[in-house]
Amino acid sequence: MNYRHAYHAGNHADVLKHVILVRILELLKAKDSPFGVLDAHAGIGHYDLSGFEAGKTFEWHTGIGKLLAAPVSGMAGELLAPYMETVRKVQFSSTMRYYPGSPELVSRLSRHKDRLYFNELHPEDYKSLEYHYAQDARIKTFCLDATTAIKSILPFSTGRGLVLIDPPFEKTDEAERVEKMLEFGLQRMAHAIFAIWYPVKDMDISARLSKFVAELAKENVLKAEVLVMDADKSGGLAGSGMIIVNPPWKLHDELNILVPELTRRLAIEKQGSGTLEWLAPPK
Ligand SMILES: C[S@@+](CC[C@H](N)C(=O)[O-])C[C@H]1O[C@@H](n2cnc3c(N)ncnc32)[C@H](O)[C@@H]1O
Repeated sequence: MNYRHAYHAGNHADVLKHVILVRILELLKAKDSPFGVLDAHAGIGHYDLSGFEAGKTFEWHTGIGKLLAAPVSGMAGELLAPYMETVRKVQFSSTMRYYPGSPELVSRLSRHKDRLYFNELHPEDYKSLEYHYAQDARIKTFCLDATTAIKSILPFSTGRGLVLIDPPFEKTDEAERVEKMLEFGLQRMAHAIFAIWYPVKDMDISARLSKFVAELAKENVLKAEVLVMDADKSGGLAGSGMIIVNPPWKLHDELNILVPELTRRLAIEKQGSGTLEWLAPPK
């Protein structure tokens, strides 16, 4: 396992994923009943952007750096506020230094009664994750393969909740593994929300996963994609997307505002494009 998320923390792909994650959490909180969250590929939870890894790539300048440079106003600004406020809260001074990973966003934006499960396979990253969240009674950490974590943790005792599937996509069979995770997940908890992140390097993963998920879930599958540059010209990470199974009902309308705004903000030399579509409409 070579992948370390510290090299990429806060980049344009993290921004899209984390903005959607935060909107799902906010919509889950609209109901009083508790929910569960399984972060199946959690990473370490929080990142020091002044550290060696982030300092090698400066990828955060392509993402959160752009949002901080020029505040977003209007409805999009309101929808972004819980994410931006959390980013500000993890700083110890007025300088941008720390970036909250998905477990940090989940732990800060969920409630006392919610139940949180953070899983990470990399042994060193797992140690950081375990250490950081050991004092929080709502959180259980696991060092398992994500498929095993999904099989053993679902269904949530709370009866509702979210599974975040966010693998590195470094292995050639990663899309196939994601498909298996979703199959097992839906077998165990058909009405849970599943949010799957994928990179756009060429269009293959997006097209393949879209077809598979729509056919498997059959209804209520939303896809949001933001490309910051032309996929043919990039040679690297041109953008990313999220496929959401069983999204909360207001998420489509919110992303209808956020996807164009994020595309405008994150695009490189006006090459960006954003899409939001139902892969399978809700009934
Ligand atoms: C993209 S990063 C996760 C970032 C994190 N979700 C966030 O948004 O802050 C993917 C993580 O998955 C871990 N990983 C790789 N293969 C895994 C597997 N089979 N099961 C669980 N975790 C895995 C990697 O070590 C890495 O930390």
